[in-house]
Amino acid sequence: MYRFPIGKFRPLTEVFFENEVPISERFGDVYFSKQGGTEESAYVFFEGNRIQKKWKETNSTDNSSFTIGELGFGTGLNYFISLENWKKETCPPNVSFYSLEKFPLESSTLKIMKNHFPEIPTWEIDLLDSYEKVLKNDKDTSGSNIWTWSVSHPSHKTRFDLHVYFSDVLATLGDWKETIDAWYLDGFSPAKNPEMWTAEVFQKIRNLSREGTSFATFTAAGFVRRNLESVGFQVKKQTGFGRKREMLVGGI
Ligand SMILES: C[S@@+](CC[C@H](N)C(=O)[O-])C[C@H]1O[C@@H](n2cnc3c(N)ncnc32)[C@H](O)[C@@H]1O
Repeated sequence: MYRFPIGKFRPLTEVFFENEVPISERFGDVYFSKQGGTEESAYVFFEGNRIQKKWKETNSTDNSSFTIGELGFGTGLNYFISLENWKKETCPPNVSFYSLEKFPLESSTLKIMKNHFPEIPTWEIDLLDSYEKVLKNDKDTSGSNIWTWSVSHPSHKTRFDLHVYFSDVLATLGDWKETIDAWYLDGFSPAKNPEMWTAEVFQKIRNLSREGTSFATFTAAGFVRRNLESVGFQVKKQTGFGRKREMLVGGI
């Protein structure tokens, strides 16, 4: 088990590792499944939102675009998995990946993540430097701080742009202006972090959605389903990942 002290930046999160999976001391929950982080991310969020199919359907031109909104950036694994899938597309749209994070992880933890997932590029040095720079500049602990990063497609003119808001979920969703095409609802478990799953959060998500917007989440908690339905999402249960019997997917 490794332990990391809270860093000198604002609320950087203390984690410990169990079976190579980071666990938040604050929330007492895992960042991703012990049964396989990359597989969980691909199954629950990328496939749960049928993103590959949607990318193929977007009449791909250099101007076409697709927007993903994530609740809980954490280790960035969902971003890396989506990015890797996008790189394999022959006619990919431009992608904007919006995420938010109130308790950013230390770069020492993210460096360990890189070693856990050698099969895909994750926290390369330039990316880590850029992440650290934004957090170090954040002197005002109440203000929101935005980190951006852009990747060009290897064989096409399109780009994959990341925007991470280092701020609370409600404040951030209030700041976002772009309509989201697919939501990754990845706060910690609803029982351990109910703040990420309130009707108020889902109302803001609804306001940023359009007809055809989808969502996927690892949880099948009853109050999450009810809160999603109360703002107008159609919700379906499907087989969950690993030891989770069920998860939720759906859309407007
Ligand atoms: C399960 S983890 C996300 C895992 C992440 N998607 C990944 O790929 O590693 C949940 C994240 O939500 C963040 N979080 C918890 N409460 C929050 C809040 N009120 N506002 C913003 N972020 C929050 C946590 O710090 C944590 O990084």
